[in-house]
Amino acid sequence: LDNGLALTPTMGWLHWERFMCNINCDKDPDNCISEKLYMQMADVMVKEGWKDAGYEYVCIDDCWPSHDRDAKGRLQADPRRFPGGIKKLADYVHSKGLKLGIYGDVGKNTCAGYPGSLGYYEVDAQTFADWGVDLLKFDGCYMNWTLLGEGYVNMSKALNKTGKSILYSCEWPLYEWPYQKVSDEHKEYLFRYNSLPSQTGLPLIKTSSFPVAGPGGWNDPDMFDSFEIWERPLSEKRLAAAVLNKQEIGGPRGFVIRAIPGWKMCDPKCNVTQILPEYKEMGVQTPKSNIVLSVNPSGTALLTITPLSSDFTEMYK
Ligand code: GLA
Repeated sequence: LDNGLALTPTMGWLHWERFMCNINCDKDPDNCISEKLYMQMADVMVKEGWKDAGYEYVCIDDCWPSHDRDAKGRLQADPRRFPGGIKKLADYVHSKGLKLGIYGDVGKNTCAGYPGSLGYYEVDAQTFADWGVDLLKFDGCYMNWTLLGEGYVNMSKALNKTGKSILYSCEWPLYEWPYQKVSDEHKEYLFRYNSLPSQTGLPLIKTSSFPVAGPGGWNDPDMFDSFEIWERPLSEKRLAAAVLNKQEIGGPRGFVIRAIPGWKMCDPKCNVTQILPEYKEMGVQTPKSNIVLSVNPSGTALLTITPLSSDFTEMYK
């Protein structure tokens, strides 16, 4: 607590769920892991009011480094995708009044196979500090689990030794969990985050109710799966339906709207209007309709469905 970090839940943006390990900047320059992506995100966070709402960190996840360390054994960003290097990127993010997060791994490799920090904790902590990085997400792949705890503690010490304020986001309990070696306290919150209802909007705030979370350290519920449908009857036998894409990972996903439980009112026909995220008349539909909704990760599409009698349907023809 005395270092002033994480007094409130960490709020920001992390690339993994949406952009994963897309390194194909030749074919997909707008969606690949490159300095451009984080600069754009910093711009958007300011321009669209996220910064004003309290979102502070722009975080790089896996797949940013070069496969080789430099001559002094330091990590280096992939030179093609990060021509300016991480220091320059941190300067840019700071110039927007935001902070930069980076990703590393306690083991030999990161989960996607890039160089891990095993044997290099002090070098890597110092490199991140020299670059002006404000947060480290430290993953737990490619590591003998009996050494996990020691590794995480050593990196924590190495970060402190730099004398810089670097927030430490570690995945230690997640990786010990399969071996049943976590404390009962940890087990409880791992269970609880696995069974969290799908109110994915504010996961960090929600988890703050867990007993182990509080000023100085917060839980991160990571990822959720699949779709969820909410329905509510409206006047004149209409129905409101919200389709939530609970998956945070990847891009927009398609949902076949005839799978909405209330779709039975579309027999013989109904009229569908999308209200959110943008207004769209989807026209007259039938029980066999093949229309697919595209819903953003952790996003919601809101529809109204109006049943139509066969007579009424004639008017639409
Ligand atoms: C693990 C983590 C993810 C992400 C990937 C990157 O799976 O749980 O959040 O960082 O590694 O490879």
